[in-house]
Amino acid sequence: MNIRPNSSLPSPSKTLHKMLNIAQAIRQASELLAGHSDSARLDAEVLLAHTLNCDITHLIAWPEKKLDDKQTQTFNALITQRRQGIPVAYLTGSKEFWSLDFKVTPATLIPRPDTELLVEFVLEKFSDQKQLQLADLGTGSGAIAIAIASERPNWKIIATDISTDALTIAKENAGIHKITNITFIQSNWFNQIDQYRFDLILSNPPYIAKQDPHLVQGDVRFEPQSALISGITGMDDIEAITAQSKNYLKPDGWLIFEHGFDQKHQTLNCLQRHDFHTITQLHDLSGQPRITAGCRSIYTE
Ligand SMILES: C[S@@+](CC[C@H](N)C(=O)[O-])C[C@H]1O[C@@H](n2cnc3c(N)ncnc32)[C@H](O)[C@@H]1O
Repeated sequence: MNIRPNSSLPSPSKTLHKMLNIAQAIRQASELLAGHSDSARLDAEVLLAHTLNCDITHLIAWPEKKLDDKQTQTFNALITQRRQGIPVAYLTGSKEFWSLDFKVTPATLIPRPDTELLVEFVLEKFSDQKQLQLADLGTGSGAIAIAIASERPNWKIIATDISTDALTIAKENAGIHKITNITFIQSNWFNQIDQYRFDLILSNPPYIAKQDPHLVQGDVRFEPQSALISGITGMDDIEAITAQSKNYLKPDGWLIFEHGFDQKHQTLNCLQRHDFHTITQLHDLSGQPRITAGCRSIYTE
């Protein structure tokens, strides 16, 4: 797997003992991961379930079952990589979002549980009675578009990304989930989708400031920088999408962003400057402002 860390990392040497059973393997792996992950035991369980190609419930049901040499070797390699910081989702190649399994690779952002708030908001606000035309800009693994498509099979969805590698994965995910109402288009925001007009434009764009210290910490180090960084302040892409969306929204269309917890005021101000009204801001489960939505009555050609 070609995974690029964004900073130099220690090369851990510790490995698991041989001839372990499931319970012992989890215990030893959790100890090896302590100090390298905030969720050491869960990571050990997920990686062992991946190694044994089973559910975590199987691990709980069969704690005495022994690992064979090949399984021990595979599990060891995964624990070593996790100790180097590589995200669990890149090691297993999948991440759950909206109760669906998404294939992920280092070309895609790992979908976050927080982003389900955007999906929830859209589904609550817009019923399935009307056939809407929706855009998901910067679709990555396809998480937002596919989650919504799975709930609104009558909507027409355009999902774009600038990254062809990400789009390949997004298309695969749509195939896995038998989604047929999404068209995937490579586009630098709107530049290849000029002929479309939308009722809803959604985006979880890059919104991290270039110098943000979080970029050199934890799992984020391994994610594509082009999915994360948006200029000096983190607002470049939200500004660009908002300015352009005026030309692509139908009258009374909605623009809905996920953004950083500290970008509530800048995003509100950005939408107000571009004549959006009925602006709504939502907080995630930890009380942080993460979603801003606004409606625009006038259509600008
Ligand atoms: C924060 S990620 C979101 C991925 C996915 N929507 C999710 O929520 O998991 C931002 C995405 O925007 C894409 N992107 C960055 N710049 C872009 C641009 N100029 N035009 C289109 N997509 C872009 C990145 O490749 C990345 O997939």
